[in-house]
Amino acid sequence: MPATVIVGTQWGDEGKGKVTDVLAENADVVVRFQGGNNAGHTIVIGEERFALTLIPSGVLNPGVMPVIAGGCVVDPKVLLEEIATLESRGVDTSLLRLSANAHLIMPYHRVLDAQQERFLGEAQIGTTKRGIGPAYTDKYARNGIRVQDLFDAKILADKLAVTLREKNKLLQALYDQPGMDEKEILDEYLGYAELLAPHVADTSLLISEALGQGKQVLFEGAQATLLDVDHGTYPFVTSSNPTAGAAAVGAGVGPTSITRVVGVAKAYISRVGSGPFPTELDDEVGARMVEVGGEFGTVTGRRRRCGWLDTVALRYATRINGLTDIALTKLDVLSEFDRLKVCVAYETDQGRFDEFPRQQRVLYESRPVYEELPGWATDISAARTLDDLPQEAIDYIAYVEKSAGVPVTMVSVGPQRDATLLR
Ligand code: IMP
Repeated sequence: MPATVIVGTQWGDEGKGKVTDVLAENADVVVRFQGGNNAGHTIVIGEERFALTLIPSGVLNPGVMPVIAGGCVVDPKVLLEEIATLESRGVDTSLLRLSANAHLIMPYHRVLDAQQERFLGEAQIGTTKRGIGPAYTDKYARNGIRVQDLFDAKILADKLAVTLREKNKLLQALYDQPGMDEKEILDEYLGYAELLAPHVADTSLLISEALGQGKQVLFEGAQATLLDVDHGTYPFVTSSNPTAGAAAVGAGVGPTSITRVVGVAKAYISRVGSGPFPTELDDEVGARMVEVGGEFGTVTGRRRRCGWLDTVALRYATRINGLTDIALTKLDVLSEFDRLKVCVAYETDQGRFDEFPRQQRVLYESRPVYEELPGWATDISAARTLDDLPQEAIDYIAYVEKSAGVPVTMVSVGPQRDATLLR
């Protein structure tokens, strides 16, 4: 701290929400800097389970200001529903701030997402169909509609008219879908303006002021390194940069203010959607990981593909993000297995890869080179300090540290807040 970035080191679902929630205890501001409601964070507090998609996990810590920064894409309907749900459960959302620069997910983005996937057929990405890709596409094509446009009815109407003309042609002629009604969308989105108004702000300024006052700011990444549009397993990625450098760009702060980058790594790996996954297990062990780890998506409910920890990918994530430390999550799930495997390199017909390959094809063809480690085969979910862990679990943590080259400063052994062992 004062400025800490939290990123996923794998293909998402590493437990970033929980790590953010724990670190947010000492934070003043928690910022989402990319992505939208494709993310899913499940946080358990006591008996209560909260599933968030858009609002930063920090909202559950009283006094923390949650910020949705300009690098995000926002579905206003989903945001308002999330606010209403949290309020109905007694969570105060009045401090939530939304960047006037964030781009809006429009109804045609959701339809286009689904249609583009349909057109890809077997080559589909397996998106969350929340309109994320089409919204970012419009942003970079400079056709996007931003939160600030909601507050200028004329600009909103003009922009919508221009873009909808093109979208409706596309929907009807190419995708064989009904066109969308301009007035209906306009009325719907103008209706959101009043409801969102109390939250809309210049979030870059707010964050800079907080940093200037020595406050603690947490930047919460959604998705993860291997889903990064530049550094992930393209095209099986999301349409934003979930890596640490994007925190500065997406939030509108200088990179020099970031002092710590925590990489969240699950003790094994999972992936939803399509794309290469060298350590994927199609066997009983993989099925057991799904079952014991509860590996079903928070957003879409899809079953996640699971496999052993891949330290080649972890080293890559350490490099791309400049990790300072690692939070190792779901270590308790590995209690199921007598022997553990960790991938240390990829073997291919072209030779061995110790570093993440620059040619994507290698990932498909590679056979993981595993090292075997002894398991602990005993329930560790009640551990509350590192001293409570069996030696084999301590050794596993040490192995991860050695492989990644950075310390593990946090270990999670269960969904509850206090099942987090710090050092
Ligand atoms: P999109 O972000 O909906 O465009 O989906 C692109 C890819 O990213 C798909 O493989 C999704 O399953 C994956 N993805 C998007 N968000 C998440 C997430 O929060 N966790 C895990 N995978 C995600």
